[in-house]
Amino acid sequence: MKIVVLAGGISSERDVSLSTGAMIYRALKNRGHQVVLMDVYLGYEGSLTNLFDLEKDWSENIGVVKETNPDIRMIKALRKDNPDSLFGPGVIEVCTQADIVFIALHGENGEDGKIQAAFDLMGIKYTGTDYTSSAIAMDKSISKEIFSYYKIPTPAGIHMKKGEKFTWSVYPCVVKVNNGGSSVGVSIVNVAEELDAALSNAFAYGNEVIIEQYIKGREFSVGVIDGKALPIIEITPLVSFYDYKNKYQPGSAIETCPANVSIELAMQMQRIAEAVFNALRIKTYARMDFIMNEKNEIFCLEANTLPGMTPTSLLPQEAKAIGMDFEALCEKIIESSLK
Ligand code: DAL
Ligand code: MG
Repeated sequence: MKIVVLAGGISSERDVSLSTGAMIYRALKNRGHQVVLMDVYLGYEGSLTNLFDLEKDWSENIGVVKETNPDIRMIKALRKDNPDSLFGPGVIEVCTQADIVFIALHGENGEDGKIQAAFDLMGIKYTGTDYTSSAIAMDKSISKEIFSYYKIPTPAGIHMKKGEKFTWSVYPCVVKVNNGGSSVGVSIVNVAEELDAALSNAFAYGNEVIIEQYIKGREFSVGVIDGKALPIIEITPLVSFYDYKNKYQPGSAIETCPANVSIELAMQMQRIAEAVFNALRIKTYARMDFIMNEKNEIFCLEANTLPGMTPTSLLPQEAKAIGMDFEALCEKIIESSLK
C-alpha cells in the first residue's frame, strides 16, 4: 500500500508525535509498504512527481523525545511560504496520492478532529476515529460530562477559561490543560497557596483548564481496538506521577502488562474502557487512562484517540501481551480504519 505517515505539527506534543511517526514509518516500511513520513506543518519541499518512488525519508533525523516545550517560533520560522497555515506546502497533494494516511499526530490540530474533518471533505482515507469523537475525547471537560451521563466514574472537577471566576476548595487537586496531552502543563496541587502558579503554568499551554480532585492510587491504562479491550497495563513511576519525563524517558517508570491485579478487577477495568470507547463514539482504536484508589474503586481520567506509539508508549506493550508486535499493531490499525 501507499501510506503517508503524518507527524510533527505545532502542538505541545510535537516531539512525541515525531517519535510516534518515526516508529510507525519504520514498521510499515519493514512490512513492504511504500511509505512517506511527513511533517504536517513543514510539509514537503521539492517535486511532488512520483513521490512514492522517491521515498523522501527524514526519519533518521528523529531522535528520542527530549523536550517538553517545542519552540513554535523556531518551527514557524522554518516555514517560508505561509507560517499562518497549519498545513505545510504539498501536504494535501502528497496525502491524495496515498491509499491511506496514518495519522501519527498528537494534541491540537491533529488529535482534535480538525484534520480528520478536512480529510473527510477531501475524500482522503486516514487511520483512527472520526472528527466528532476526536473533538469530544480531546476535550477533558466535555468527556467528563459524558462519563457522568453514562455513570462512568471520573474524578470530580471544574472547567474554566482564562480570567474566569471560579470556586475550588478540595486539596490535593490536579490542574490540567483541558485540551492537552502527555501531561504537558499538568500539576498536582497540595495546598491552596500553590493553585495560582499551577493555573498559570497550565494556561501557558491553552485557554481552558480543568481542576479535578486528586485520586491517590495506582495508575493503569487500557487500549481498545475495534471496541475490544486489550490487557490492562499498570504504570509505576519511580518518582512522582506519570508526567512527561516519566512517560518518555526510558527507565523512569515500571510498566507491567498484564497488570498484577485480580481477574475481576482487570475485567472490570476492561469493561469500563470499552464503555468509554462507546460513550464517546470512538471508532477503530484508543487508549483509556485510569486511577484506582485504595478501596479498589476505578476512575477514568480520559480517552486518547491517537495514543502514543513511541518506544516507551503503552498501547504497543498491551498489544505485545496478546502476541501482536508493533508492526502487526500498525497493520491492524490500518485494517480497522479501512473497514
Ligand atoms: N497523548 C499521548 C501521546 C498519549 O496519550 O499516549
Ligand atoms: Mg491524554
